[in-house]
Amino acid sequence: MIIEPRMRGFICLTSHPKGCEQNVKNQIKYIKSKGPINGPKKVLVIGASTGFGMASRITSAFGSDAATIGVFFEKPPVQGRPGSPGWYNSAAFENEAKKEGLYAKSINGDAFSNEIKKQTLDLIKADLGQIDLVIYSLASPVRVHPVTGVMHRSVLKPIGSTYTNKTVDFHTGIVSEISIEPCQGDDIENTVAVMGGEDWAMWIDVLKAENLLAKGATTVAYSYIGPSLTEAVYRKGTIGRAKDHLEATAFAITDSLKSLEGKAFVSVNKALVTQASSAIPVIPLYISLLYKIMKEEGIHEGCIEQIQRLFYDRLYTGEEIPTDDKGRIRIDDWEMSAEVQEKIAILWEEATSEALPEIGDLQGYKQDFLNLFGFGFEGVDYLTDANEMVGVSSII
Ligand code: NAI
Repeated sequence: MIIEPRMRGFICLTSHPKGCEQNVKNQIKYIKSKGPINGPKKVLVIGASTGFGMASRITSAFGSDAATIGVFFEKPPVQGRPGSPGWYNSAAFENEAKKEGLYAKSINGDAFSNEIKKQTLDLIKADLGQIDLVIYSLASPVRVHPVTGVMHRSVLKPIGSTYTNKTVDFHTGIVSEISIEPCQGDDIENTVAVMGGEDWAMWIDVLKAENLLAKGATTVAYSYIGPSLTEAVYRKGTIGRAKDHLEATAFAITDSLKSLEGKAFVSVNKALVTQASSAIPVIPLYISLLYKIMKEEGIHEGCIEQIQRLFYDRLYTGEEIPTDDKGRIRIDDWEMSAEVQEKIAILWEEATSEALPEIGDLQGYKQDFLNLFGFGFEGVDYLTDANEMVGVSSII
């Protein structure tokens, strides 16, 4: 079938298998161009099919020759309807890994559930024995709690008072003011239940209980801080409470891994266009200004560049892992530099629908958004029929 992008707000209903394959190949090429990493050999990535998780899987496999198991929640295709991008990314990843003789298997299902945890444990037992790196990179709007059965929904809202600021509709380029009402009732608890650290700790607990973590195993989850501009809706909002919880969980996990000399870290990453971040109001405008500045300065990075730097310059240097005063790894350092942030604060005041094409990188935002779904890649012929029925080879 000929597959075209069909946008609905901040999602795209279609995705292109060949474009997703190109996306994965480009990331692999980048990792190979940066040379080998003296890193992990057996890696479990939870949330492995898109964004930072996919980049972590690619970096592990093609930077460090690691065997990888990827867990994700994606839609397979049906005749006439493409699958989700993470499905096609994972299919392409497995093909490329196999070409190089690298072990790669994937599990598609709800990582929050006991069933998927059990399937993953069984696969590790059967194939890999013990894991030396666990990446936790889930971004989900809902979680059915495996013990209580309650379905929690996360919300992206300020706490205490209404937040009003500028935002941009990245499809039209129209900058407008948006007001977001404060959270209510159990919104904070629910958001913490979905995006906080409880499930991360549950994964590590079961892996440890079954003796599936190697001595000195490391686990890393991803967080975000961002500037004061977005603080009310991000870091001091409901999602920020979840990130606080995730960051606190790293210390609890490190304690629980003492006998194995294992460690848990949170890495604070840069704001990037992913399916998760495009759903957050105000962030698209911030990102388009950020991209413009960071590209001009020659310090722009995407997910793959970020994770390559995380592995190469932070996690696997052979020296102690550098952290901030709260124990967090910082690869948002270039985004958060005073120079970049001062420039953004000025541009933010100037941002209007008319000024944005000049002062921001809306084009770059749109391009990245299209790329998430496998569209807009050079070398892909979007006018010829593509086979939508692509399978992930390890998933029967
Ligand atoms: P993403 O939307 O690209 O990836 C989410 C992954 O989670 C996908 O592999 C998806 O299949 C998987 N997933 C979602 N629900 C699942 C479930 N129930 N069971 C199994 N897998 C499931 O998101 P992104 O942006 O890469 O986010 C990953 C982490 O990085 C999140 O913790 C996010 O807060 C954090 N982060 C994101 C930043 C950004 O700007 N995008 C910046 C800094 C941190």
